[in-house]
Amino acid sequence: MTWSTLFKGDAATGRLPASSFGREWMKAPLKVGAVAPSSSGLARAITNGLSASDGPVIELGPGTGVFTSALLARGIPDSRIAAIEASSGFASALAARYPAATVICADAARIRHLNLFGVPANVVICGLPLLSMPHGKVFRILAGSFASLRPGGSFRLFTYGWRCPVPGAILDHLGIVTRRIAFVPFNIPPAWVYELRREKVAE
Ligand SMILES: C[S@@+](CC[C@H](N)C(=O)[O-])C[C@H]1O[C@@H](n2cnc3c(N)ncnc32)[C@H](O)[C@@H]1O
Repeated sequence: MTWSTLFKGDAATGRLPASSFGREWMKAPLKVGAVAPSSSGLARAITNGLSASDGPVIELGPGTGVFTSALLARGIPDSRIAAIEASSGFASALAARYPAATVICADAARIRHLNLFGVPANVVICGLPLLSMPHGKVFRILAGSFASLRPGGSFRLFTYGWRCPVPGAILDHLGIVTRRIAFVPFNIPPAWVYELRREKVAE
């Protein structure tokens, strides 16, 4: 398999067992960044207010697909969802579960080079462990995501810390403003949800 493999409904593995998240975490704890999937409460918070008209949506680091399911529950069809996941185990299971979605097994830092929909996305939902990544990678993820979003599009992330996990210098350089939009106390651990938008660049 090459480093970037497109899975589109051709994987045979289907739904991942609950234990798979812990298994992936044991293989690469820093990369997976959590010992268990996010709660349904966090999934509802990070997708809050989205509806069928908010596609296309890009999901970064979907894992077992908790946020993907929440996007579908909001009415966004799987054909309007593209997910970028570094773990081939997670990616192939997600592709089998959502055959109409575009699931790409790749490093999200490559997002700028992946032709996902051919049109800009409205929303990026980020499940990546940004705090454990080098700043250069975080920069490439943010810059590439905003290049893939329509002007005014929304980038949502969650964090277990009380501050936005994107370094201030990156936010300033890219002209991004942040807003804390939810606190989810019953997630393990408790989590904050942020929305990032790019300020209008003066012409
Ligand atoms: C904290 S888990 C979140 C999973 C899921 N979104 C959730 O909330 O339950 C982080 C996910 O990001 C994936 N990941 C980590 N680094 C990545 C990268 N550079 N590119 C794409 N996916 C990555 C991991 O494999 C894992 O599935």
